[in-house]
Amino acid sequence: MQVRKAVIPAAGLGVRFLPATKAQPKEMIPIIDKPTIQYIIEEILASGIREILIITGRGKRAIEDHFDVSPELEYHLQSKGKQEVLERMRQIADMADIHYVRQKEPRGLGHAVLCARSFVGNEPFAVLLGDDVVRSETPCLKQMLDQHARLGGSVIALEEVPREDVSKYGVIKGEQVESRLYRIEDLVEKPPVEEAPSNLSVMGRYILSPRIFDLLAVTTPGAGNEIQLTDALRRLVREQPLYGYLFEGRRYDVGNSLGYLKATVEFALELPDVKEQFARYLRDTVGKL
Ligand code: UTP
Repeated sequence: MQVRKAVIPAAGLGVRFLPATKAQPKEMIPIIDKPTIQYIIEEILASGIREILIITGRGKRAIEDHFDVSPELEYHLQSKGKQEVLERMRQIADMADIHYVRQKEPRGLGHAVLCARSFVGNEPFAVLLGDDVVRSETPCLKQMLDQHARLGGSVIALEEVPREDVSKYGVIKGEQVESRLYRIEDLVEKPPVEEAPSNLSVMGRYILSPRIFDLLAVTTPGAGNEIQLTDALRRLVREQPLYGYLFEGRRYDVGNSLGYLKATVEFALELPDVKEQFARYLRDTVGKL
């Protein structure tokens, strides 16, 4: 069955980015001049999905405003003759058919996904986490949709991480069935290095069977007293095929400062009007260390 809908859970509190996230959503923090959530929406659209649901919470209104029309701003830009910026602002508002549901309390990623149940209904759907921004030739989500179209079941994106870092991630236990493709047998959250079943970490892109909703509905709070998506996935894998796909591309974990800095620097090094000057500046600065 074709995947037509995508869900972006964005109701977390963004504790790791305080104080920046005290009065603004983490998803609105920009990489250069574009909020991170816009990169995610662009990936969804480039992958051929038009129906998007964002799970929001208290203090997240800026996300809705960002993807809405802004008559005062448009009037101002029009009257100043700033046609090009005006067009860019209109394109953002026209981008997609975006829906919103509020998660009343941040009870965990699993609970946030469950809030998408009536929007999604009984069909497979995509989940994308805003912390993971991916640059790739074929959009990461499109790579996963292609696998899903071929295999059915559920597909989650995997990334290889250095062995010594596995205890920071959720990793899979599974068997390689093709190049880049694994049949998952189990998932383990933040295992000690010596007990980790692999160095394949789960990152923030999922294509899920709607069965996950039934499982989330009966999942009790786990780690951090939150309803964990991983707990429901561990049950799903006992009932239905769950595949892990080692996507092609570069992932930036913009939910932590180092990942955020890497994304900012690397994206800046591709901006035609500043890249040369910026590269020179970086070389000079690093040279002084
Ligand atoms: P994180 O665990 O990264 O939480 O959530 P967070 O609040 O965003 O950030 P930190 O850890 O406090 O700094 C993973 C994803 O799940 C969403 C978040 O918005 C993020 O995209 N989430 C998490 C929800 O939508 N609701 C929740 O209750 C928890």
